[in-house]
Amino acid sequence: MTIAQLQKAVERAFAAGPASIGDQSAMDVFLELRTALERGEARAASPDPASATGWRVNAWVKQGILLGFRLGSLADISVAGFSFVDKSTYPVRHFALADGVRIVPGGSSTRAGAYVARGVVCMPPMYINTGAWVDEGTMVDSHALVGSCAQVGKHVHLSAAAQIGGVLEPVNASPVVIEDDVLVGGNSGVYEGTIVRQGAVLAAGTILTRGTPVYDLVNGTILRGSGDMPLIIPENAVVVPGSRAVAKDKGHERSQDWGLSLYAPVIVKYRDEKTDLSTTLEDLLR
Ligand SMILES: CC(C)(COP(=O)(O)OP(=O)(O)OC[C@H]1O[C@@H](n2cnc3c(N)ncnc32)[C@H](O)[C@@H]1OP(=O)(O)O)[C@@H](O)C(=O)NCCC(=O)NCCS
Repeated sequence: MTIAQLQKAVERAFAAGPASIGDQSAMDVFLELRTALERGEARAASPDPASATGWRVNAWVKQGILLGFRLGSLADISVAGFSFVDKSTYPVRHFALADGVRIVPGGSSTRAGAYVARGVVCMPPMYINTGAWVDEGTMVDSHALVGSCAQVGKHVHLSAAAQIGGVLEPVNASPVVIEDDVLVGGNSGVYEGTIVRQGAVLAAGTILTRGTPVYDLVNGTILRGSGDMPLIIPENAVVVPGSRAVAKDKGHERSQDWGLSLYAPVIVKYRDEKTDLSTTLEDLLR
């Protein structure tokens, strides 16, 4: 089946609703999609210069992933001494030497339907959910999460405990996108369809959601998601966690009485030689 044929077949099976449960042809379509996802031939969102965000959401892929949850029944997938129960359609992904992915033993798991490119390093414990795309040379450090359908580019460093939110529903919602060469610092979180452009750096502890205004000190602008547009962190921006005063019309006086301020991610600069130095520590480990 070509990808275009697969898309049509997925859309048909998804539209059939609960009637597809027990239908072997729907299951075959799902399994074909799952294989295409793992090979990187289909993905939940793809780069598209013609789109306003630079990314096109492939809603049919997300429909296909949801179809897998609908078609799967709970299965006992216990292994030597550990009991696990999950949807039969989403077992643990198995890797072979030839896949070129390094998985250090200890509490990590990648769900079927995730694409993990050669040269990816997975430090335990970490989790990569279905529909996620993790490109070449990326490091997924301990306690990091790559949520369902999240798109992570090449040579990204997802530092310890970095959380990349997933999004399966609504199907048209844009997944989180982390473009090539981004550093996501330890304990950071990127959620709700946020796009982090190439080369950006999120300092440890930075949290980004659609509703979090980001203050760009360099350009004097305040970035946030609006309408159909997600929050977009510009190329090479260095974002650090800061704080700001409460807005005048939203309880500013009381916040002063109480000594409160709100969390605010701040772009303090754009990547320079010093940033490159601060962010290239782990090359030898890859
Ligand atoms: C952002 C980071 C890469 C530093 O980049 P850099 O280009 O060297 O930044 P600089 O040191 O020039 O700092 C620029 C400004 O941001 C401030 N800043 C830097 N990091 C900050 C942070 N984490 N929180 C708040 N402010 C920060 C600096 O104080 C400086 O402001 P100042 O000039 O007023 O003092 C680094 O702070 C960081 O967070 N690294 C990630 C660490 C990590 O998670 N490692 C993972 C290991 S698993």
